[in-house]
Amino acid sequence: MSDLRLGEKAPNFDAETSEGKINFYDYLGDSWGILFSHPADYTPVCTTELGTVANYKAEFDKRDVKVMALSVDGLKSHEGWIKDINETQNTRVNFPIIADEDRKVSDLYGMIHPKADDTLTVRSVFVIAPDKSIKMTLTYPASTGRNFDELLRVIDSLQLTAYNKVATPANWKNGEDVVISPSVSNEEADKMFPKGYKVVKPYLRTTAQPELKK
Ligand code: BEZ
Repeated sequence: MSDLRLGEKAPNFDAETSEGKINFYDYLGDSWGILFSHPADYTPVCTTELGTVANYKAEFDKRDVKVMALSVDGLKSHEGWIKDINETQNTRVNFPIIADEDRKVSDLYGMIHPKADDTLTVRSVFVIAPDKSIKMTLTYPASTGRNFDELLRVIDSLQLTAYNKVATPANWKNGEDVVISPSVSNEEADKMFPKGYKVVKPYLRTTAQPELKK
């Protein structure tokens, strides 16, 4: 079982998908990426999850994020199920779903957790930066659908903190105040944050959110 950690390079692969054969790195290009697995086609929670991701396309596009899904079901299954997702979730699935019947990608990314289920993938998410480093992972059980608003929130934080010496506090949302990284001295902060900042404690300084760049 693979044990990919934050900061490691996301492994590349070729895969059969609902949109044809795809090389993962070619698909990502210079964009951010999300690779996420679901346990099985034609299941209720997965149907709502993939429909939600399809309905969030504008949000992912706005953040320059390319999305790819995966399960160990085959292409025929994906094709039929996509029709159901489109019909029941009032959408059109607009991202590729990997048909990982031989578990090549699932094993590469450690998406099968044998003590949870020895054949099906769990609900894994990998957020990948344009340099292909893994920036976030999460693992949910089969019985709990993921919160894709939280995923967008993390991507906003990652994109903000990739280009500014700030971090985002608990429950932060795009537009709210951020904290200044501890590595920044007050002298540097004076120049970096011309609108000013508040010193709550010497290690806890808050400032208005800098502009979001990608
Ligand atoms: C679901 O997507 O509803 C599901 C899939 C596998 C196990 C339990 C629930």
